[in-house]
Amino acid sequence: MSARPHAKASNEAGIQSKRIEIDVESIEPEWCDDDFYRIFYNILNAAIPTFERYVIRALRAVRDDPRLADEPRLRELIDVFVHQEAEHTRQHVRTNRRIGMNEIATIKVTERITRFLQRRTPVYVSVAAAGFIEFVGFGFFKSHIDRQVLDTSGMQQEMAKLWKWHIAEELEHSFIKLKVINHIDDSYWVKAGGFLEGQIMSHLFVTTLIPEIVWKDARAHGKRFWPHLWMFLKGLGDTEWGVDRESVAKYFRKGFDPEIKDPWVADRINDWIAETNAFVPERRSR
Ligand SMILES: [Fe+2]
Ligand SMILES: [Fe+2]
Repeated sequence: MSARPHAKASNEAGIQSKRIEIDVESIEPEWCDDDFYRIFYNILNAAIPTFERYVIRALRAVRDDPRLADEPRLRELIDVFVHQEAEHTRQHVRTNRRIGMNEIATIKVTERITRFLQRRTPVYVSVAAAGFIEFVGFGFFKSHIDRQVLDTSGMQQEMAKLWKWHIAEELEHSFIKLKVINHIDDSYWVKAGGFLEGQIMSHLFVTTLIPEIVWKDARAHGKRFWPHLWMFLKGLGDTEWGVDRESVAKYFRKGFDPEIKDPWVADRINDWIAETNAFVPERRSR
C-alpha cells in the first residue's frame, strides 16, 4: 500500500488540495534559458503571493454567507480552493526567497493598493473579479501548455515542477469563484464590477511589475534595459491570452456552469499531478 493517500479526489467537492516536494536549493536565480519566459514567469512568481492573498480574502469573506447555506458542496469547494492557494503561496514564497523575487519593491506597493481597494469594494464584486481573472484571464496557460513552454524553454527541473503542479491546480479550481458568485448573486452589476476590478488587479499584479523585473533581469545578464524591455513587450504581443468574446460572454452568462470543462483540461491535470508526484497530506484526507 502506498504511504501517501492517492492524489485523486474522493471528497464531495471532487477535488483536493495537494502538495509537492520542491528542492528549492537546486533552483538558481538564472533558472530559465529563455529571456522572455524567465521574465514572464518571474513576474508571476513575484505577484503570486500577493494575488493569492487577495483571492483568499475574497473567498473567505463569503465562505459562511447565508446564501450558501443550502450549498454545502460550494462551501467545501471554497475550503479546497483556499487550501490550494495557501499551499501555492507557501511554495512560491520559499522559491522567491531563493531567486530574489521576494525583493521586488513594486509588489509591496501593489500589496498596499490591493488591500486598500479591496476594503472599499463590495465583497461579491471581489469574488466576481477573482472569478474573472482565474476563469478568463488565466487563458494564457492553455497557449503555454500548447507550446510546451514548461518543457522546452530551458526551465530548471524544480521550477518547471513547481509550475506544473501550480497550473494543474489552477486548471482544477478555475471554475470555483465563478460558480460561487453565480449562486450568490449573478446580477450584471456584480459581474460588471468584477470585470472592472479584475482588470485593475491584473494590471496591478502584472503590468506594474514589468519595469522593475525587466530592469533587474537586464542587469543580471549584462543587457541594456530598453532593448530588453522591447524584447519582452514583443513577446507579450505574441502571447495568446484566451481572453475573447466567447470567454468573456461565458463569464457574464446567467445559468452558465463553469465546472463543465474542455476534455484536455482533465488530461493535463492528471498528467502533471502524476509527473510532479503531488500528494494529498494525511491530515487533510477524509
Ligand atoms: Fe494558485
Ligand atoms: Fe488560483
